Amino acid sequence: MIFRHIPVLLKEVLDLVCIKREGTYIDCTVGEGGHSEAILDIIHPKGFLVGIDCDESVLETAKERLGKFAGSFKLVHDNFFNIIDVCNRLDIKAVDGIILDVGISSYQIDDPERGFSFNKDGPLDMRMDQSSDLTAQSLINHASYDELTKIFFEYGEERYSRKIASKIVSERNKRPIQTTFELVSTIKKAIPLRRYRIHPATRVFQALRIAVNNELRNLSDAITDGFSLLKKEGRMVVISFHSLEDRIAKNKFKGFKIREQAKIITKKPLTPTEEEIDKNIRSRSAKLRVIEKTQ
Ligand SMILES: C[S@@+](CC[C@H](N)C(=O)[O-])C[C@H]1O[C@@H](n2cnc3c(N)ncnc32)[C@H](O)[C@@H]1O
Repeated sequence: MIFRHIPVLLKEVLDLVCIKREGTYIDCTVGEGGHSEAILDIIHPKGFLVGIDCDESVLETAKERLGKFAGSFKLVHDNFFNIIDVCNRLDIKAVDGIILDVGISSYQIDDPERGFSFNKDGPLDMRMDQSSDLTAQSLINHASYDELTKIFFEYGEERYSRKIASKIVSERNKRPIQTTFELVSTIKKAIPLRRYRIHPATRVFQALRIAVNNELRNLSDAITDGFSLLKKEGRMVVISFHSLEDRIAKNKFKGFKIREQAKIITKKPLTPTEEEIDKNIRSRSAKLRVIEKTQ
């Protein structure tokens, strides 16, 4: 089998979550199952892993990959903000470890039909969960100028948010913006291109993806609820790929520590080694934080 996504900071996850052979773990972002496979390698057949993903199609790949560990895992199509419901349904009261490797997988970004990449032409979709209603296309064509400006500024930290939002509104009044390349060309018309060191659509695409999938709110809720499911000495790891997500993990972890419910295992976030980045360029912006429940 060929997997498009290479699990990030894998050794660090295994070491820092302190996987126990009889433990119960939740991989909230199972994706193609890279982290889950490595955990199941340790815990099968005595432990148990629940793998959650909101993208039903990627779960098919994970199911095949993890088939050799039958009986030791359950895959669930759901949003990780429902982590408590998922555990209730499976009659799981508490767990030894939780993994949140948030963001997008190569499986999703490499498929033009999913609309995540500004380098590939496809429909403006960007839904991680294809059964949800809101697409990037509906946001781009129906959100107000103020809403678009806010999304680009807050989630993308895009300094030309107003100019881009204004150009989108004028272009969509002529005809709807339906594809990734139509959006890229609209962005390019709105801004001084020579000011950009990165692709000029990077921040807008990131912002739209966050808005379409409600990513920040979901992460915040999953950390709170996931933490409540940890056993004493249970650990949670969050791997994030941009500063807004990392800030959420950092602040949430700090809150648990201040309330004397936890100790922080990673004083500073861990990042991939140069060797890992050489092998997997997509790991370059990853940051990993770990917390342990103390009571
Ligand atoms: C970076 S990939 C995970 C890769 C995985 N750790 C591996 O090694 O193959 C992130 C995955 O999380 C899923 N995801 C993102 N947000 C989610 C959410 N709120 N609930 C459930 N799954 C989510 C995505 O669909 C994607 O498959």
